[in-house]
Amino acid sequence: MEKLQAALHKARQNRGDPVPAREKPAGRDGGGATSPLWEALAPFEIEPRQLERHRVVTREAGAKATPFDILRTKVLLQMRQNGWTRLAITSPMPQSGKTTTACNLALGLGRQRDLRSMLLDTDLRDPSVGTFFNARPDRSIGEVFAGEVDFADQALRIGANVAVSMAREAEGDPTRLLLAEETAEVIDRIEARYKPDVMIFDLPSVLVNDDTRAFLKNVDCALIVVRANQTRYSQFDTCEREIAEHTNVLGVVLNAYRHADKGTAAE
Ligand SMILES: Nc1ncnc2c1ncn2[C@@H]1O[C@H](COP(=O)(O)OP(=O)(O)OP(=O)(O)O)[C@@H](O)[C@H]1O
Ligand SMILES: [Mg+2]
Repeated sequence: MEKLQAALHKARQNRGDPVPAREKPAGRDGGGATSPLWEALAPFEIEPRQLERHRVVTREAGAKATPFDILRTKVLLQMRQNGWTRLAITSPMPQSGKTTTACNLALGLGRQRDLRSMLLDTDLRDPSVGTFFNARPDRSIGEVFAGEVDFADQALRIGANVAVSMAREAEGDPTRLLLAEETAEVIDRIEARYKPDVMIFDLPSVLVNDDTRAFLKNVDCALIVVRANQTRYSQFDTCEREIAEHTNVLGVVLNAYRHADKGTAAE
């Protein structure tokens, strides 16, 4: 555990020059959080008990939400400072807390009324945002990426300002879809039309397949989630190097670290 913490500290100090910025679609229109396009997305309600079951605690402010609210603010400030809008959430190995972090960030951002946020379930091989929210859309995010369905007809809206694009089921050939130029163009079009302040991509783990590597060209930065007492130092080290080759490492979330009753820590 000490070795992992030392590695996180070292990684923070060594974080180098930013990877050159992606070419951006047209910027924010400054027109407030809602717009007819956002209002037209189908709304959906999430049961509080369902959220609790999956440790999504940021719908309301409170003690449980605080660690994620701190993370939200740090992420937002750093992204704004750099003019970044797209955030990948990944980890070295599975079951680290990526989807938990992604959902908590999305709902935490949703409490900021003046912001528009999107959560895209980009873990096409093993999607789980739908399970977390107990929702199964009529069409899948994979169909949006393939250009078969319009985002407007697929994404669902939580409250006024959080759009969520989820999967119906696992994709047969996710790496192809994540690597495709068409997918990059679809995401550019979504960003240009909806002008979200933050787009969160819940990605698979880096060390298990090529999916995340294939997709990172589409984001501005990445948050690495490591799980206390589970992620090994060598796994974190390899994962950080790999990600840094493709995008900016925004930071590391040390999940499930219990120290003096503090649940989740962010570096
Ligand atoms: N801090 C925590 N304390 C206890 N359990 C947690 C914590 N964070 C996540 N979990 C639980 O661990 C499991 C895995 O979490 P999650 O699905 O967020 O991880 P993941 O990295 O997205 O997994 P996958 O690689 O399968 O996509 C879930 O059951 C989740 O509720
Ligand atoms: Mg997940």
